[in-house]
Amino acid sequence: MDSLLIVRGRVVDPASGVDQEMDVLLREGRVAAVAAPGKLRGQAQRSFNAKGCIVAPGFIDLHVHLREPGQAHKETIATGTAAAAAGGFTSVCAMPNTVPVNDSAEITRWMQAPERGALVNVFPVVAATVGSLGEKLTDFATLKKAGAVGVTDDGRPILSDRLMHDALHAAGKLNIPVVQHAEDTHMTADCSMNLGATSFRLGLHGMPNAAEANIVERDIALAGATRGHVHVAHLSTREALEAVHRGKKAGVRMTAEVTPHHFTLVDENVGDFNTHYKMNPPLRSLADRAALIEGIADGTIDAIATDHAPHAFHEKQVEFERAAFGITGLETAVAIALTVLHRHFNLPLWRMVELLSANPARIFGLARRGSLAPGSHADVTIFDPKKKWTFDASQSKSKSRNTPYDGWSFTGKIVATIVDGKVIYEG
Ligand code: DOR
Ligand code: ZN
Repeated sequence: MDSLLIVRGRVVDPASGVDQEMDVLLREGRVAAVAAPGKLRGQAQRSFNAKGCIVAPGFIDLHVHLREPGQAHKETIATGTAAAAAGGFTSVCAMPNTVPVNDSAEITRWMQAPERGALVNVFPVVAATVGSLGEKLTDFATLKKAGAVGVTDDGRPILSDRLMHDALHAAGKLNIPVVQHAEDTHMTADCSMNLGATSFRLGLHGMPNAAEANIVERDIALAGATRGHVHVAHLSTREALEAVHRGKKAGVRMTAEVTPHHFTLVDENVGDFNTHYKMNPPLRSLADRAALIEGIADGTIDAIATDHAPHAFHEKQVEFERAAFGITGLETAVAIALTVLHRHFNLPLWRMVELLSANPARIFGLARRGSLAPGSHADVTIFDPKKKWTFDASQSKSKSRNTPYDGWSFTGKIVATIVDGKVIYEG
Protein backbone atom coordinates (compact mmCIF):
# COMPACT_ATOMS: atom_id res chain seq x y z
CA MET A 1 0.00 0.00 0.00
CA ASP A 2 1.41 3.38 -1.08
CA SER A 3 1.44 5.74 1.89
CA LEU A 4 3.15 8.89 3.16
CA LEU A 5 2.84 10.66 6.51
CA ILE A 6 3.53 14.42 6.57
CA VAL A 7 4.57 15.27 10.13
CA ARG A 8 5.11 18.37 12.29
CA GLY A 9 3.79 20.91 9.73
CA ARG A 10 1.22 23.65 10.29
CA VAL A 11 -1.78 22.62 8.21
CA VAL A 12 -3.53 25.59 6.60
CA ASP A 13 -6.66 24.32 4.87
CA PRO A 14 -9.29 27.07 4.47
CA ALA A 15 -11.75 24.65 2.83
CA SER A 16 -11.88 22.59 6.06
CA GLY A 17 -11.40 25.52 8.44
CA VAL A 18 -8.12 24.08 9.76
CA ASP A 19 -5.11 26.16 10.81
CA GLN A 20 -2.97 24.31 13.34
CA GLU A 21 -0.16 21.81 13.74
CA MET A 22 -1.39 18.48 12.37
CA ASP A 23 -0.06 15.34 10.73
CA VAL A 24 -1.45 14.37 7.31
CA LEU A 25 -1.68 10.77 6.12
CA LEU A 26 -1.78 10.14 2.37
CA ARG A 27 -2.69 6.68 1.19
CA GLU A 28 -3.36 5.32 -2.31
CA GLY A 29 -3.69 8.75 -3.89
CA ARG A 30 -6.06 10.16 -1.30
CA VAL A 31 -5.91 12.06 1.97
CA ALA A 32 -6.63 9.26 4.46
CA ALA A 33 -6.52 11.26 7.71
CA VAL A 34 -5.56 14.58 9.31
CA ALA A 35 -4.89 14.30 13.04
CA ALA A 36 -3.10 15.80 16.02
CA PRO A 37 0.71 15.40 15.98
CA GLY A 38 1.81 11.83 16.73
CA LYS A 39 -1.63 10.27 16.49
CA LEU A 40 -0.99 8.66 13.09
CA ARG A 41 2.50 7.38 13.91
CA GLY A 42 3.37 4.03 12.32
CA GLN A 43 0.56 4.14 9.79
CA ALA A 44 2.66 4.94 6.72
CA GLN A 45 5.63 3.43 4.88
CA ARG A 46 7.44 6.78 4.70
CA SER A 47 7.27 10.11 6.45
CA PHE A 48 8.05 13.70 5.43
CA ASN A 49 9.26 16.14 8.06
CA ALA A 50 7.47 19.47 7.51
CA LYS A 51 8.71 21.16 10.71
CA GLY A 52 8.56 24.95 10.36
CA CYS A 53 6.53 24.66 7.16
CA ILE A 54 2.99 25.26 6.01
CA VAL A 55 1.18 22.20 4.70
CA ALA A 56 -1.52 23.34 2.26
CA PRO A 57 -3.91 21.76 -0.24
CA GLY A 58 -2.12 21.43 -3.59
CA PHE A 59 -2.09 24.79 -5.37
CA ILE A 60 -4.11 25.14 -8.57
CA ASP A 61 -3.16 27.59 -11.33
CA LEU A 62 -6.24 28.56 -13.34
CA HIS A 63 -4.34 30.18 -16.19
CA VAL A 64 -1.34 28.58 -17.86
CA HIS A 65 -0.14 28.51 -21.46
CA LEU A 66 1.57 25.14 -21.99
CA ARG A 67 2.06 25.74 -25.77
CA GLU A 68 1.45 22.14 -26.84
CA PRO A 69 0.35 21.24 -29.44
CA GLY A 70 2.25 23.32 -31.94
CA GLN A 71 4.72 25.58 -30.15
CA ALA A 72 7.06 23.19 -28.41
CA HIS A 73 9.94 25.62 -28.99
CA LYS A 74 8.40 27.80 -26.24
CA GLU A 75 7.23 25.08 -23.84
CA THR A 76 5.94 21.51 -23.73
CA ILE A 77 3.43 19.98 -21.39
CA ALA A 78 6.37 18.15 -19.76
CA THR A 79 8.52 21.26 -19.23
CA GLY A 80 5.60 23.53 -18.28
CA THR A 81 4.35 21.09 -15.65
CA ALA A 82 7.90 20.62 -14.34
CA ALA A 83 7.99 24.40 -13.79
CA ALA A 84 4.57 24.15 -12.13
CA ALA A 85 5.85 21.47 -9.74
CA ALA A 86 8.88 23.60 -8.85
CA GLY A 87 6.53 26.50 -8.16
CA GLY A 88 4.28 24.46 -5.84
CA PHE A 89 1.39 23.92 -8.25
CA THR A 90 -0.15 20.44 -8.30
CA SER A 91 -2.70 21.31 -10.99
CA VAL A 92 -2.69 23.67 -13.95
CA CYS A 93 -5.50 24.72 -16.25
CA ALA A 94 -4.21 24.87 -19.82
CA MET A 95 -5.37 27.63 -22.15
CA PRO A 96 -6.49 26.74 -25.69
CA ASN A 97 -4.48 29.25 -27.77
CA THR A 98 -2.25 26.46 -29.03
CA VAL A 99 -1.48 25.68 -32.69
CA PRO A 100 -3.96 24.46 -33.75
CA VAL A 101 -6.35 26.03 -31.25
CA ASN A 102 -7.76 23.48 -28.81
CA ASP A 103 -11.37 23.47 -29.94
CA SER A 104 -11.79 19.68 -30.18
CA ALA A 105 -12.24 16.61 -28.01
CA GLU A 106 -9.25 15.03 -29.81
CA ILE A 107 -6.79 17.76 -28.78
CA THR A 108 -8.32 17.92 -25.30
CA ARG A 109 -7.70 14.19 -24.83
CA TRP A 110 -4.26 14.37 -26.47
CA MET A 111 -3.18 16.99 -23.94
CA GLN A 112 -4.19 14.74 -21.06
CA ALA A 113 -2.58 11.55 -22.43
CA PRO A 114 0.19 10.00 -20.26
CA GLU A 115 2.62 10.27 -23.23
CA ARG A 116 2.74 14.06 -22.74
CA GLY A 117 4.76 13.42 -19.58
CA ALA A 118 2.89 15.85 -17.34
CA LEU A 119 4.28 16.03 -13.83
CA VAL A 120 1.15 17.66 -12.36
CA ASN A 121 -2.57 17.44 -13.17
CA VAL A 122 -3.51 19.18 -16.42
CA PHE A 123 -7.07 20.46 -16.87
CA PRO A 124 -7.73 21.79 -20.36
CA VAL A 125 -9.78 24.95 -20.82
CA VAL A 126 -11.08 24.69 -24.38
CA ALA A 127 -11.90 27.28 -27.03
CA ALA A 128 -15.35 28.81 -26.71
CA THR A 129 -15.56 29.40 -30.46
CA VAL A 130 -14.27 27.30 -33.36
CA GLY A 131 -10.62 28.23 -33.92
CA SER A 132 -11.17 31.03 -31.35
CA LEU A 133 -12.33 33.03 -34.36
CA GLY A 134 -15.35 34.45 -32.57
CA GLU A 135 -17.88 33.18 -35.11
CA LYS A 136 -19.41 29.87 -34.00
CA LEU A 137 -19.55 28.26 -30.55
CA THR A 138 -17.78 24.92 -30.04
CA ASP A 139 -19.68 21.88 -28.73
CA PHE A 140 -19.37 22.48 -24.99
CA ALA A 141 -21.05 19.23 -23.89
CA THR A 142 -18.74 17.02 -25.97
CA LEU A 143 -15.69 18.99 -24.85
CA LYS A 144 -16.69 18.74 -21.20
CA LYS A 145 -16.96 14.97 -21.58
CA ALA A 146 -13.42 14.95 -23.01
CA GLY A 147 -12.13 16.70 -19.89
CA ALA A 148 -12.62 20.43 -20.42
CA VAL A 149 -13.23 22.39 -17.21
CA GLY A 150 -14.14 25.71 -18.84
CA VAL A 151 -14.36 27.54 -22.16
CA THR A 152 -12.47 30.63 -23.31
CA ASP A 153 -10.94 32.30 -26.35
CA ASP A 154 -8.07 33.54 -24.13
CA GLY A 155 -5.45 35.54 -25.92
CA ARG A 156 -8.54 37.09 -27.49
CA PRO A 157 -11.82 38.31 -26.02
CA ILE A 158 -15.27 36.99 -26.93
CA LEU A 159 -16.46 40.30 -28.37
CA SER A 160 -19.83 39.57 -29.95
CA ASP A 161 -22.70 40.20 -27.50
CA ARG A 162 -24.73 37.47 -29.10
CA LEU A 163 -21.94 34.84 -28.89
CA MET A 164 -21.06 35.73 -25.30
CA HIS A 165 -24.74 35.53 -24.37
CA ASP A 166 -25.09 32.11 -25.97
CA ALA A 167 -21.78 30.89 -24.51
CA LEU A 168 -22.84 31.87 -20.99
CA HIS A 169 -26.21 30.21 -21.47
CA ALA A 170 -24.77 26.93 -22.82
CA ALA A 171 -21.86 26.75 -20.35
CA GLY A 172 -24.16 27.67 -17.48
CA LYS A 173 -26.35 24.67 -18.15
CA LEU A 174 -23.24 22.45 -18.03
CA ASN A 175 -22.02 24.16 -14.87
CA ILE A 176 -18.72 25.32 -16.37
CA PRO A 177 -17.49 28.92 -16.51
CA VAL A 178 -16.85 31.10 -19.53
CA VAL A 179 -13.39 32.59 -18.97
CA GLN A 180 -13.15 36.04 -20.47
CA HIS A 181 -10.00 37.80 -21.60
CA ALA A 182 -11.63 41.19 -21.08
CA GLU A 183 -10.27 43.50 -23.75
CA ASP A 184 -12.28 45.68 -26.08
CA THR A 185 -9.87 45.27 -28.97
CA HIS A 186 -11.56 48.14 -30.82
CA MET A 187 -9.82 50.35 -28.25
CA THR A 188 -6.44 48.60 -28.15
CA ALA A 189 -5.35 48.12 -31.78
CA ASP A 190 -1.59 48.77 -32.14
CA CYS A 191 -1.18 49.14 -28.37
CA SER A 192 1.75 47.51 -26.65
CA MET A 193 1.43 48.79 -23.07
CA ASN A 194 -0.80 50.66 -20.61
CA LEU A 195 -1.98 54.18 -21.46
CA GLY A 196 -0.20 56.57 -19.11
CA ALA A 197 2.86 58.71 -18.51
CA THR A 198 5.24 55.91 -19.49
CA SER A 199 3.51 55.15 -22.82
CA PHE A 200 3.57 58.90 -23.50
CA ARG A 201 7.29 59.15 -22.69
CA LEU A 202 8.14 56.13 -24.86
CA GLY A 203 5.88 57.18 -27.71
CA LEU A 204 3.89 53.95 -27.61
CA HIS A 205 0.16 53.50 -28.11
CA GLY A 206 -1.44 52.75 -24.74
CA MET A 207 -4.43 50.61 -23.71
CA PRO A 208 -6.98 52.54 -21.62
CA ASN A 209 -8.55 50.98 -18.51
CA ALA A 210 -11.95 51.30 -20.16
CA ALA A 211 -11.00 48.65 -22.71
CA GLU A 212 -11.06 46.09 -19.88
CA ALA A 213 -13.85 47.54 -17.75
CA ASN A 214 -16.33 47.90 -20.64
CA ILE A 215 -16.16 44.19 -21.45
CA VAL A 216 -16.46 43.22 -17.78
CA GLU A 217 -19.54 45.46 -17.43
CA ARG A 218 -21.14 43.93 -20.50
CA ASP A 219 -20.37 40.39 -19.33
CA ILE A 220 -21.97 41.08 -15.94
CA ALA A 221 -25.19 42.04 -17.70
CA LEU A 222 -25.07 38.92 -19.89
CA ALA A 223 -24.21 36.58 -17.01
CA GLY A 224 -27.08 38.05 -15.03
CA ALA A 225 -29.50 37.54 -17.91
CA THR A 226 -28.40 33.97 -18.69
CA ARG A 227 -27.61 32.74 -15.15
CA GLY A 228 -24.24 31.72 -16.61
CA HIS A 229 -20.89 31.96 -14.77
CA VAL A 230 -18.36 34.44 -16.12
CA HIS A 231 -14.79 34.20 -14.82
CA VAL A 232 -12.68 37.29 -15.50
CA ALA A 233 -9.14 36.29 -16.43
CA HIS A 234 -6.13 38.36 -15.33
CA LEU A 235 -8.15 41.35 -14.07
CA SER A 236 -5.88 44.41 -14.03
CA THR A 237 -7.80 47.67 -13.54
CA ARG A 238 -9.54 49.47 -10.70
CA GLU A 239 -12.61 50.05 -12.85
CA ALA A 240 -13.02 46.35 -13.72
CA LEU A 241 -12.51 45.43 -10.06
CA GLU A 242 -15.28 47.83 -9.04
CA ALA A 243 -17.53 46.30 -11.69
CA VAL A 244 -16.87 42.80 -10.32
CA HIS A 245 -17.65 44.05 -6.83
CA ARG A 246 -21.00 45.44 -8.02
CA GLY A 247 -21.80 42.32 -10.05
CA LYS A 248 -21.18 40.01 -7.10
CA LYS A 249 -23.30 42.21 -4.86
CA ALA A 250 -26.13 41.98 -7.38
CA GLY A 251 -25.93 38.17 -7.19
CA VAL A 252 -24.39 37.55 -10.63
CA ARG A 253 -22.41 34.31 -10.90
CA MET A 254 -18.97 35.75 -11.40
CA THR A 255 -15.40 35.21 -10.26
CA ALA A 256 -12.09 36.88 -11.01
CA GLU A 257 -8.37 36.12 -10.94
CA VAL A 258 -5.35 38.41 -10.62
CA THR A 259 -1.77 37.66 -11.66
CA PRO A 260 1.32 38.16 -9.48
CA HIS A 261 2.71 40.68 -11.96
CA HIS A 262 -0.36 42.90 -11.77
CA PHE A 263 -0.21 43.14 -7.98
CA THR A 264 3.58 43.58 -7.94
CA LEU A 265 4.68 45.65 -10.94
CA VAL A 266 3.46 48.81 -12.69
CA ASP A 267 3.75 50.31 -16.19
CA GLU A 268 6.69 52.47 -15.15
CA ASN A 269 8.74 49.25 -14.78
CA VAL A 270 8.75 48.96 -18.58
CA GLY A 271 11.64 51.45 -18.24
CA ASP A 272 13.27 51.86 -21.59
CA PHE A 273 11.39 49.32 -23.68
CA ASN A 274 12.17 46.25 -21.54
CA THR A 275 10.15 43.48 -23.22
CA HIS A 276 10.18 41.34 -20.05
CA TYR A 277 7.55 43.78 -18.80
CA LYS A 278 5.31 43.41 -21.85
CA MET A 279 2.18 41.36 -21.38
CA ASN A 280 -1.53 41.54 -22.05
CA PRO A 281 -3.32 42.95 -20.10
CA PRO A 282 -0.42 45.35 -19.56
CA LEU A 283 1.10 46.45 -16.28
CA ARG A 284 -1.10 49.29 -15.04
CA SER A 285 -0.75 52.32 -12.76
CA LEU A 286 0.12 52.47 -9.04
CA ALA A 287 -3.55 53.24 -8.32
CA ASP A 288 -4.68 50.12 -10.17
CA ARG A 289 -2.14 47.98 -8.33
CA ALA A 290 -3.30 49.35 -4.97
CA ALA A 291 -6.92 48.60 -5.88
CA LEU A 292 -6.05 45.00 -6.82
CA ILE A 293 -4.30 44.42 -3.50
CA GLU A 294 -7.38 45.73 -1.73
CA GLY A 295 -9.62 43.47 -3.85
CA ILE A 296 -7.45 40.49 -2.97
CA ALA A 297 -7.78 41.23 0.74
CA ASP A 298 -11.53 41.99 0.76
CA GLY A 299 -12.62 38.96 -1.29
CA THR A 300 -13.58 40.68 -4.54
CA ILE A 301 -10.76 38.73 -6.16
CA ASP A 302 -11.17 34.95 -5.95
CA ALA A 303 -7.88 33.56 -7.20
CA ILE A 304 -4.23 34.17 -7.98
CA ALA A 305 -3.35 32.78 -11.43
CA THR A 306 -0.04 33.13 -13.22
CA ASP A 307 -0.92 33.59 -16.92
CA HIS A 308 2.39 31.73 -17.43
CA ALA A 309 3.13 32.68 -21.04
CA PRO A 310 6.48 31.31 -22.22
CA HIS A 311 8.08 32.80 -25.33
CA ALA A 312 11.40 32.03 -27.00
CA PHE A 313 14.35 34.41 -26.75
CA HIS A 314 14.00 35.66 -30.34
CA GLU A 315 10.32 36.49 -29.78
CA LYS A 316 11.22 38.93 -26.99
CA GLN A 317 14.60 40.19 -28.24
CA VAL A 318 13.02 42.58 -30.77
CA GLU A 319 11.57 46.13 -30.74
CA PHE A 320 9.04 46.57 -27.93
CA GLU A 321 6.08 46.97 -30.29
CA ARG A 322 6.93 43.75 -32.13
CA ALA A 323 7.72 41.62 -29.07
CA ALA A 324 5.34 38.87 -27.95
CA PHE A 325 3.00 39.59 -25.04
CA GLY A 326 3.59 37.52 -21.89
CA ILE A 327 5.97 36.39 -19.16
CA THR A 328 6.62 33.08 -17.43
CA GLY A 329 5.31 32.84 -13.89
CA LEU A 330 4.89 29.34 -12.49
CA GLU A 331 8.12 29.19 -10.48
CA THR A 332 7.83 32.62 -8.88
CA ALA A 333 4.08 33.09 -8.18
CA VAL A 334 3.91 31.63 -4.67
CA ALA A 335 7.14 33.35 -3.59
CA ILE A 336 5.81 36.68 -4.90
CA ALA A 337 2.48 36.18 -3.13
CA LEU A 338 4.30 35.38 0.13
CA THR A 339 6.76 38.27 -0.20
CA VAL A 340 4.45 40.98 -1.50
CA LEU A 341 0.99 40.05 -0.19
CA HIS A 342 1.75 38.22 3.04
CA ARG A 343 4.95 39.87 4.23
CA HIS A 344 4.58 43.39 2.86
CA PHE A 345 0.80 43.88 2.88
CA ASN A 346 -0.02 41.56 5.82
CA LEU A 347 -2.40 39.29 3.92
CA PRO A 348 -3.12 36.35 6.27
CA LEU A 349 -1.62 33.03 5.16
CA TRP A 350 -5.00 31.29 5.13
CA ARG A 351 -6.35 33.88 2.69
CA MET A 352 -3.35 33.44 0.40
CA VAL A 353 -3.78 29.66 0.51
CA GLU A 354 -7.49 30.03 -0.25
CA LEU A 355 -6.69 32.13 -3.34
CA LEU A 356 -4.39 29.36 -4.57
CA SER A 357 -6.37 26.25 -3.66
CA ALA A 358 -9.99 26.19 -2.43
CA ASN A 359 -11.17 29.03 -4.66
CA PRO A 360 -9.59 27.87 -7.94
CA ALA A 361 -11.00 24.37 -7.31
CA ARG A 362 -14.47 25.85 -6.82
CA ILE A 363 -14.25 28.10 -9.89
CA PHE A 364 -13.52 25.21 -12.27
CA GLY A 365 -15.52 22.63 -10.31
CA LEU A 366 -12.50 20.41 -9.62
CA ALA A 367 -14.00 17.76 -7.35
CA ARG A 368 -12.06 16.71 -4.25
CA ARG A 369 -9.29 19.22 -4.91
CA GLY A 370 -8.31 22.42 -3.13
CA SER A 371 -8.82 20.79 0.27
CA LEU A 372 -7.09 18.34 2.62
CA ALA A 373 -10.35 16.88 3.93
CA PRO A 374 -10.17 13.07 4.09
CA GLY A 375 -11.13 11.60 0.70
CA SER A 376 -9.52 14.47 -1.23
CA HIS A 377 -6.90 13.79 -3.89
CA ALA A 378 -3.47 13.50 -2.27
CA ASP A 379 -2.19 16.79 -3.73
CA VAL A 380 -0.22 18.85 -1.22
CA THR A 381 1.95 21.96 -1.34
CA ILE A 382 4.49 22.41 1.44
CA PHE A 383 6.25 25.75 1.81
CA ASP A 384 8.49 27.60 4.23
CA PRO A 385 7.09 31.15 4.59
CA LYS A 386 10.34 32.43 6.17
CA LYS A 387 12.96 30.95 3.87
CA LYS A 388 14.90 33.51 1.84
CA TRP A 389 16.09 32.68 -1.68
CA THR A 390 17.00 34.27 -4.99
CA PHE A 391 15.43 33.31 -8.30
CA ASP A 392 17.93 32.37 -11.02
CA ALA A 393 16.09 32.25 -14.35
CA SER A 394 18.91 30.25 -15.94
CA GLN A 395 17.94 27.36 -13.64
CA SER A 396 14.26 27.49 -14.63
CA LYS A 397 12.48 24.24 -15.51
CA SER A 398 10.54 26.14 -18.18
CA LYS A 399 11.88 26.11 -21.74
CA SER A 400 11.60 29.89 -21.83
CA ARG A 401 13.35 32.64 -19.87
CA ASN A 402 11.00 35.60 -20.41
CA THR A 403 10.72 36.64 -16.78
CA PRO A 404 11.21 40.05 -15.18
CA TYR A 405 12.12 38.37 -11.87
CA ASP A 406 15.61 37.06 -12.68
CA GLY A 407 17.79 37.81 -9.65
CA TRP A 408 14.87 38.82 -7.41
CA SER A 409 15.11 37.82 -3.75
CA PHE A 410 12.04 36.43 -2.02
CA THR A 411 10.96 35.46 1.48
CA GLY A 412 9.00 32.21 1.22
CA LYS A 413 9.95 29.08 -0.70
CA ILE A 414 8.38 25.86 -1.93
CA VAL A 415 9.75 22.93 0.08
CA ALA A 416 7.84 20.06 -1.56
CA THR A 417 5.12 19.46 -4.12
CA ILE A 418 3.11 16.27 -3.77
CA VAL A 419 0.82 14.98 -6.52
CA ASP A 420 -1.28 11.86 -6.11
CA GLY A 421 0.61 11.03 -2.90
CA LYS A 422 4.06 11.19 -4.55
CA VAL A 423 6.72 13.82 -3.85
CA ILE A 424 7.38 15.14 -7.38
CA TYR A 425 9.48 18.14 -6.33
CA GLU A 426 11.71 18.86 -3.34
CA GLY A 427 13.29 22.30 -3.01
O1 DOR B 1 0.45 38.24 -22.17
C1 DOR B 1 -0.27 37.40 -22.68
N1 DOR B 1 0.24 36.27 -23.22
N2 DOR B 1 -1.56 37.64 -22.73
C2 DOR B 1 -2.41 36.84 -23.41
O2 DOR B 1 -3.58 37.11 -23.41
C3 DOR B 1 -1.90 35.67 -24.15
C4 DOR B 1 -0.61 35.21 -23.61
C5 DOR B 1 0.11 34.28 -24.54
O3 DOR B 1 -0.50 33.30 -24.99
O4 DOR B 1 1.29 34.48 -24.79
ZN1 ZN C 1 -5.54 36.47 -21.70
